[in-house]
Amino acid sequence: MSAHRTLYRQARLATMQPGSAWGLIDDGALLVEGDTLLWVGPEAELPAELARSAPRDVKLDGALVTPGLIDCHTHLVYGGHRATEFELRLQGASYDQIARAGGGIRSTVSATRVATDGQLFNSAADRAAALMNEGVTVIEVKSGYGLSAEHEARCLRVARRLGRELPLTVRTTSLAAHALPHEFAGRPDDYIEAACAWLPQLHAEGLVDAVDAFCDEIGFTPAQTRRMFEAAARLGLPVKLHAEQLSNQHGAALAAEFNALSCDHLEHLDGDGVAAMAHAGTVAVLLPGAFYFLRETRLPPIAALRAAGVPIAIASDHNPGSAPGLSLLLMLNMACTFFRLTPEEALRGVTVHAARALGLQHSHGQLKAGLQADFVVWDLAAPNELAYWFGRNPCQRVLRAGIEILGPDA
Ligand code: NIG
Ligand code: FE
Repeated sequence: MSAHRTLYRQARLATMQPGSAWGLIDDGALLVEGDTLLWVGPEAELPAELARSAPRDVKLDGALVTPGLIDCHTHLVYGGHRATEFELRLQGASYDQIARAGGGIRSTVSATRVATDGQLFNSAADRAAALMNEGVTVIEVKSGYGLSAEHEARCLRVARRLGRELPLTVRTTSLAAHALPHEFAGRPDDYIEAACAWLPQLHAEGLVDAVDAFCDEIGFTPAQTRRMFEAAARLGLPVKLHAEQLSNQHGAALAAEFNALSCDHLEHLDGDGVAAMAHAGTVAVLLPGAFYFLRETRLPPIAALRAAGVPIAIASDHNPGSAPGLSLLLMLNMACTFFRLTPEEALRGVTVHAARALGLQHSHGQLKAGLQADFVVWDLAAPNELAYWFGRNPCQRVLRAGIEILGPDA
């Protein structure tokens, strides 16, 4: 007997391991030791001595089990909201018109700067709780609403605190190159120089896992993005990019030059960008919530991404301007309806491929021996139901690092 082992059995495992649809194992078992999956497979093949070694035995009555869900692109830490801007857009104003008129990201920057650390933490923790309620065990959180050394650091510290105080893995991304703050009006190159100079200190404080930028006409130019990426590379930090969201800036090819973990949005991505991402092994993160909420009509080049073998992830992009939703399950549904992903591709997009978009593919994203014991038990029989229902939460039980954080034993 090993006191810290638990056996979960009579499960339908969507392991998401490669080689078969969903990596499906009917009548499967999971043996958890501490925070790790010790054994995963068909229950009939579980060695008897391993079965006997677990003092706790949990029968799941045929329920579907998936890896913990991973939301690999969020802007969770901010002050205020932008419901009035939503109304303006409904009356005909466009997202970039509002941004050029000084609203958009910059209005959230003002609201973030006046919020206290406690307010930022509490609002972000509530949002994280909504995601976790649907089986999310890992999130990425970007800065980008502080836009000064002090306020960027504050937002990243709040993100780190979420990871310490909630049963949730949090990866932080510095997105100082999100918009031009008013104090640098007309001086974007000076701002980028300043933002590059903050990075070593933020990194020394352990606040940065990756560096992102918004490369667009209302964001930063490819040359400015390159400077940000060079500053990241000097510190050995991986990069990601908000690329080709509103126009084609050839940002994906630039990011691929830096072996980016991911390029995100991608509605305006062209064939050269697809090829560059395939060559670099960069993940394409699609954000159907932003596509929906901005009422976009131009689709990311899904067929070309598939044909080139680019891994596709799906994320919420939660932020107050372009995607205020907090349901990753709804994103699965929208990825299928809007982008015509298959339900299996959509689930890979919030598990195995999302892990890769965060550089966590060796510890997260699949049900596989040796990986962290993050998994979700669903009140569902078949994995394609995950992308089918919406507005219903079938999440029954969540284990994160081997500990039940939601469910009968939580
Ligand atoms: O991912 N495109 C840039 N950034 C965010 C939106 C930020 C905002 O509008 O506040 C996005 O869509
Ligand atoms: Fe985003």
